Amino acid sequence: MKAVVIKNYGGPEVLDISELPTPTITDPSQVLVKVRATSINPLDYQVRRGDYASLFGLPIITGHDIAGDIVAVGEAVKNWRIGDKVYYSPRFGGSGSYAEYHLTEESSLSRMPDNLSYEEAAAVPLVGGTVWEMLAVRASLKKGETILIPGGAGGVGTFAIQVAKSMGAVVFTTGQSALHEDLRKLGADVVIDHHHEDYIEEIKSYTNGKGADVIIDTVGGSMLSDSPLALADYGRVVSLVDIAQPQNLIHAWEKNATYHFVFTRQSRDELHHITRLIENGDIKPVIDSVYPIEEVKNAHERIEQRKRERPLFGKIVLSF
Ligand SMILES: NC(=O)c1ccc[n+]([C@@H]2O[C@H](COP(=O)([O-])OP(=O)(O)OC[C@H]3O[C@@H](n4cnc5c(N)ncnc54)[C@H](OP(=O)(O)O)[C@@H]3O)[C@@H](O)[C@H]2O)c1
Repeated sequence: MKAVVIKNYGGPEVLDISELPTPTITDPSQVLVKVRATSINPLDYQVRRGDYASLFGLPIITGHDIAGDIVAVGEAVKNWRIGDKVYYSPRFGGSGSYAEYHLTEESSLSRMPDNLSYEEAAAVPLVGGTVWEMLAVRASLKKGETILIPGGAGGVGTFAIQVAKSMGAVVFTTGQSALHEDLRKLGADVVIDHHHEDYIEEIKSYTNGKGADVIIDTVGGSMLSDSPLALADYGRVVSLVDIAQPQNLIHAWEKNATYHFVFTRQSRDELHHITRLIENGDIKPVIDSVYPIEEVKNAHERIEQRKRERPLFGKIVLSF
C-alpha cells in the first residue's frame, strides 16, 4: 500500500511516499479500513517535527482523521460489516491515517454521516470530537451565553462557531478582515480582526464591560493568562494548546474563573453528537482545499505558513 512515512524528524521534506505491506487482521476485534481521505491537523506537523519524539519510535506514519470503507473484519467484530462507511480518529500514539489502509479496533469506529463526501467526512473526527468536548462537556455552554472563539477561520474555529451557534450561544470570533463575511455566514455574531484590534477591549465593549461567559484558547502564548481580562465573573476558559511558557493566573482569581485543559486522544464518544448535528443540517465541515496524497508536502506547507497569499479557511484534506 501507499503510505507517507516519517523516517527522520524535520520539515515537510521528511514526508516520504513509500510502498509498505498492507496490514492484515491479527486480533479478532480488529477491522481493516480502506482510507479514502484524511485531513491535516497542527498535531501532524508537531509529530513530524519531533515535538512528541518521546512518545513515538521512528519510522512513523502520522495523521489523525480517517474517512473510508471497511474491507475486512475480525471474527469477534459484532457491529460492523465489510462495505460500511466509517469515520474516526486513530488512537494517538499508534499508526496514523496517512496510508491507504488502516488497521484499528472496532471500538474506535463511528458511522460516517449520510450527507457527507469522504473528503468532507475526513475533516471532522479530531476537531469535531474536540469541539464537542470543549463546548458541551467542559464549558457546559448554555443558550444565550456569550463565547469567544479565537482563530475562527481554522479547523477548530470553523467547527466551534457552528456548534456554539447550534447550542444557542452568542459567538465572538477573531479572523483576518478578508474572512469576516465568511465567518459571519458561518454564524459568528461579531468578528474581531486580531491583526489590528485588541480582542480584550472589543469583547469588553460588546458585552458592556461584563466579558464573555466562555473563552476557548486555540492560539496559546499569553492567551491563557490574558483571557480573564475578557471573561465574565465565574466564566470558563477551555485551552487546547500545549502550554510551554509559565503563566501568571492572577486575573483568573479575580474573576473566579474555571480552567479546563483538553487533549483529544480518540473522539468516538463525542463524535456521535457531531454526526447528529451534521445529519440535521445544523453544521457542515468547511474545506479549505483538497490535495492528492502525493502532494502531502505542499499541504503541510500550506497549514504551517504564517503569511499565505490566500488566507486559510477551514480544513486541508488529503485524498487517496
Ligand atoms: N488539544 C487538542 O485535543 C486539540 C485538538 C485540535 C486542535 N488543537 C490545537 O488547536 C489549535 C488550533 O487548531 P486548528 O486545527 O484550528 O489550527 P489551524 O487550522 O492552523 O488554524 C489556526 C487559526 O488560528 C489563527 N491564529 C493564529 N494565531 C492567532 C492569534 N494570535 N490570534 C488569533 N488567531 C490566531 C489562524 O489565523 P491566521 O491564519 O490569521 O494566522 C488560524 O485561523 C492548534 O494549536 C492545535 O494544535 C488541539
